[in-house]
Parts: sequence; C-alpha cells; structure tokens
Amino acid sequence: MREWTREERYRVLKSADEIKELHERNARSIYRQRFHVQPVTGLSSDPNGFIYHKGLWHLYYQWCPWGAVHGLKYWYHVTSPDLVRWTNAGIGLKPDTIYDNKGTHSGSGYSDGQDMYLFYTGNHRDENWVRTPYTCVARLDSNDNAVKMPEPLFGPREDYSEHQRDPKIVYVPEKKKFYIFIGAQNLSLKGRVLIYESEELLSGWRFAGELKVPGYEDFGGMWECPCIVHISGKDVLIFSPQYTKLPGRGESTNHNVYFIGKMDYDSLTFTPEGDYQYLDFGFDFYAAQFAANVSDPDKAILIGWIGLPDNHYPTEEEDWEGSMSLPRELRLIGGKLIQSPVADFDQLKGEEILADGSLPETCEMRVETPAGNVRLNLFTRKDGSGGLTICYDSEKRVLRVDKTGLAKRFNQNVGEVLDIPMEDSLTDIRLIIDRCSVEMFINGGKYTFTAHVYPTPEEHHYTVSGWDQVRLWQLGTSVKDDFVV
Ligand code: FRU
Repeated sequence: MREWTREERYRVLKSADEIKELHERNARSIYRQRFHVQPVTGLSSDPNGFIYHKGLWHLYYQWCPWGAVHGLKYWYHVTSPDLVRWTNAGIGLKPDTIYDNKGTHSGSGYSDGQDMYLFYTGNHRDENWVRTPYTCVARLDSNDNAVKMPEPLFGPREDYSEHQRDPKIVYVPEKKKFYIFIGAQNLSLKGRVLIYESEELLSGWRFAGELKVPGYEDFGGMWECPCIVHISGKDVLIFSPQYTKLPGRGESTNHNVYFIGKMDYDSLTFTPEGDYQYLDFGFDFYAAQFAANVSDPDKAILIGWIGLPDNHYPTEEEDWEGSMSLPRELRLIGGKLIQSPVADFDQLKGEEILADGSLPETCEMRVETPAGNVRLNLFTRKDGSGGLTICYDSEKRVLRVDKTGLAKRFNQNVGEVLDIPMEDSLTDIRLIIDRCSVEMFINGGKYTFTAHVYPTPEEHHYTVSGWDQVRLWQLGTSVKDDFVV
C-alpha cells in the first residue's frame, strides 16, 4: 500500500494535464467497470447530488483525483438519460473557496423545475488542521457549471462535534418549508441528525432542532449521509452509522441502514415502525442516497457507493478504486424496501448464454430453487476450486457469502464471511456481475448483497449445486472511460 503525505493527498488540481497519464493507466485496468459509474481517475466514494432535472439524471460522486486515497474531495459530474447509459461531464464542484478549502464534501440536489441546486459541505481547515464544516449551495448555470453562492447558508453548531455534514435538502409542502438534514455527532460522541428550516431555499436558514428517533439515542458514533424520502404514504430514513459494530456485520464499523416510519416536522420526530434494517447485506455498500425529484409516489431511486471508509481494495496498486452501485428502484412492500435494478437496465441484456460453468466478465445470472440447501461458487478456477461461495442453509434460513476462496483477498481484518438471516425461504437470486463487483437481488429484491470482487483471469468459472434453474445472459457496456475534466 502506498503511503501518501498530506500534501500529496490535498494537492489542488490545477490542470487536467496533471492526471491525463493517470487516466490512461487507470483506464487500462482489467477491473474497469462496464456499466457502473466509476472514478475518471483516482478514487470515487459517496454518491452526491443525485437528481432528475429537465429530462436528465444528474449524479455526482466524491472524487479524489490523485489516486486511491481519501484526500481533497471534488464532486465529479456524470449524467444519464435513463440511469443506464452514463456520460462523464467533468468536475461538478471544486474546493476553491475559503469555506471549502479542504474539500467539497457530500450533499444533495434540488430542482425547482427551472433551476438545479447543489447543497454540499464545505470542509474548511485552518493552518492547525482544525475543521469547520459549512453548509453551502451552488446553482447550475445554463452550461451546467455550478455557481457557488458567495457565503455559506450556515456554519457548524458549537454544541456538537466537528462532524456536521452531508446536507439533504427537502421541501415539505404541508409546512410550506424547506428542511436540511445534517449528519452529525454530539459532544458525547453519539450519532445524530440536525435539522435546519427555512421558508426560502437560499436564505433565512435557522436551526430547528435535533431529529429524535425514539429508541436510537445510542446507535453509532456518527450518522453520515442522512436522507429521507416519502414513498407509498410512509417516510423512509436512511443513513450510514459509523464507529460501531452491528449484529451480523463482522468487524465492520461502517454500515448503511433504513427505518420505515413517520416523520413529524412539528416535533422533529421520526417514529420508526420497527427496528432498523440493513439497506444491503454485502461487504461493500455505503453512503447511499435517494434521487431527488422522482415523480412516482410509489417508487424511490437509490444509489450507493460500492466501498467503505477505512477499507482498502486491490486496485489501490493501480492508483484507483471505488464504483457506484447500480441505480436501484425501490418499492415499499410488507414493511421492507424491495430493490431491483431500474427497469431500463434490461436494455443491456444480450443473448442468453449456455450455463456451462464459464463466467463471462460481465453478465447477469438468475438462479432459482424449489427449497433445500443450495450452493453457488462464483469466480472459481476451471477445476471448480476457490471462488466466492454463496451457500444457503434451509434449516437455519441463512444465506452465507464467503469470499475467502478468492485469489485476491482484501479487508481480511473487517471480515470475509457474512450471513443474511432470512425471514422466508430462499427462492431466487438475480446476480449482476461487472468487472469488479457483484450485486445480488435475493427473493425478488427483498434482500440485497453488494461486494467488490477482483477475479484473476483464471477465476472466470462457477459451480452450482441444488438449484432448479440457472440462466445466464451477456450484459453490454454503458459507461465509457472518457477523459473529461
Ligand atoms: C462518507 C463521508 C461523508 C463526507 C464524505 C467526504 O463516506 O465521510 O460524511 O461528506 O464522505 O468524502
């Protein structure tokens, strides 16, 4: 693993020429994704500013241009007509003011139909490296360039720690008010969400209070990337609690969870209907965000980062890492979010291929089981050895995913085996395989499991046992490695 000095990590990008060679090198990797948004160079982490505006989907990601390292963060902009085909659009936000001198950190988008706005955290640090987070806003001009408002909307509160960031902006028609949710940590180092309110989008912001989630006053040390959506008559709150271990999540201290319930803006209380649920059971899924401005009241669109803070991935050797998940369509059924790739994803589906044990670099696989114990070994060698083992124990109703058999092992200290405890019997899994990721939609999307995998050229086979049906399709390409900066 390369050691980076602070100067190297926080270097300001002055010209695209400085990363052209890196881009060419990164683009040659055998692990470059074919249909997932990935960093133009260096590192991508959280999705930001995800929104539908004037007929186009806009997405940004936290971007560190220099390599596979968390340093000075930019927002990199990509657009899509359909959430399937993505075009690199260049830098979305750059750290170029006193308020964001050490990074334009995560945030969300807002469209009033005419104009589109980006709400983000300006990560200011002084010469002693003391951090002050500001909540800032920029408006897109007619060329899609973000024009920042000269002053932040508000700064941090003294009665919380320096961890106050990731503004999620919403408009609540019943209250005729805008609200901003901020991920935070209190002075006792507990995760919190702060709520600000205003009648105007760009001015008049005041602190409304702390979000109350009864029963969850001691649940992680920081709630990163809070996001709320109203779907099928209910509110869904997602966030990424960190600095804590959670049941069944191995040694990981970074998670992504959701609550279904009711948000009361008078008392600033989110009343959950039940316990928190994992948004995804996989090794690598974090900082997910709902798209803003989705018109269907019964559907939400979600995207996450395939990766975790403080984790390391094999492409670090090639000076890049990270990928966005597929955008997912979410519906609320039976007290759960039911997730699937967006409907248009099927455009990428090519010929059905013979399920003969070889695994193309990119493909969709569907397996179905009548009941019983089944096993699927993906990314094995030709003789069936090694690989990622997906194994169902029908008595315990547990689906276990074990990555210890892969040639390229990583994040061993965080855990290489995870279980999905299921309420019902396993019936089917839809697997979407790109060059360095696998996403599984289990039992029609009731459970999902997302992981990075870095198969070697020898590891492109699979074995199955106990399944009723195994079908495979080629998948096309929908992202290009264009060098747009
Ligand atoms: C989550 C996070 C956010 C922050 C951003 C910085 O991964 O830590 O809270 O805004 O990343 O890149």
